[in-house]
Amino acid sequence: MDSTNSKTKELIENNLEGGLIVVATEQKKGRGRLGKKWDSPAEDGLYFSVLLDTRSLKQEKITMITLMTAAALAETIEEEYQLTVGIKWPNDLLINSKKFCGILTEAITSENKINHIIIGIGINVNNKNFDTNVDNKYSRSSLYLELGNKIDKAELLALFINRLEQYYFAFINESFDYIIDRWTNYALSINQEVTINRQNEYFQALLIGVNNKGELIIMRDGNIQYISSAELII
Ligand code: BTN
Repeated sequence: MDSTNSKTKELIENNLEGGLIVVATEQKKGRGRLGKKWDSPAEDGLYFSVLLDTRSLKQEKITMITLMTAAALAETIEEEYQLTVGIKWPNDLLINSKKFCGILTEAITSENKINHIIIGIGINVNNKNFDTNVDNKYSRSSLYLELGNKIDKAELLALFINRLEQYYFAFINESFDYIIDRWTNYALSINQEVTINRQNEYFQALLIGVNNKGELIIMRDGNIQYISSAELII
């Protein structure tokens, strides 16, 4: 298929309750954040989307879903495969400074209300090499390359979905501190100076953490600021 996120969007009309998971073995038009392409070769990677019904949730808290997903993934991979995972805000997953997983959350809105969220996840699982034509500034890796052995993709998916469910209950019960704590536990460069690219404006700032809207808290020129969308260069 082209993209599991796009497919989920098409299926939404019949699945208003959420909970749907769309999985692909390969994507022809895998999409990444900020308009980038997500390299999705057949067999090696895991590409899937989870549909959540957010109609009864407090709108301003929905951005927390991205942090929740990144923390649940990092925890699954650390605990199941004994790898050390870092999260680069908002939701890139890295091992040994190399990206192996990305998350693209998309909101489906109607009358200014977010009714559904599609969480799209791409994981380089058993990849041995990467397409060098795909625009990506960061060096990439896969679980196979970091671990030295192949992973059962179906098992990884099942383990992650179980954990996501636990996090989602915490989210529904508004245990945002729990999610922030877990996310911060994996976050890279907290209390460090990093370069931030916000719409092609590059500046240095100290990373402090995230707030319960999922925004990045930074210290820039002595002032606290909150960032909702940008790219970190670490
Ligand atoms: C990123 O880091 O830029 C996010 C990458 C997200 C890729 C996944 S693969 C499954 C889902 N379908 C897509 O088209 N994209 C996401």
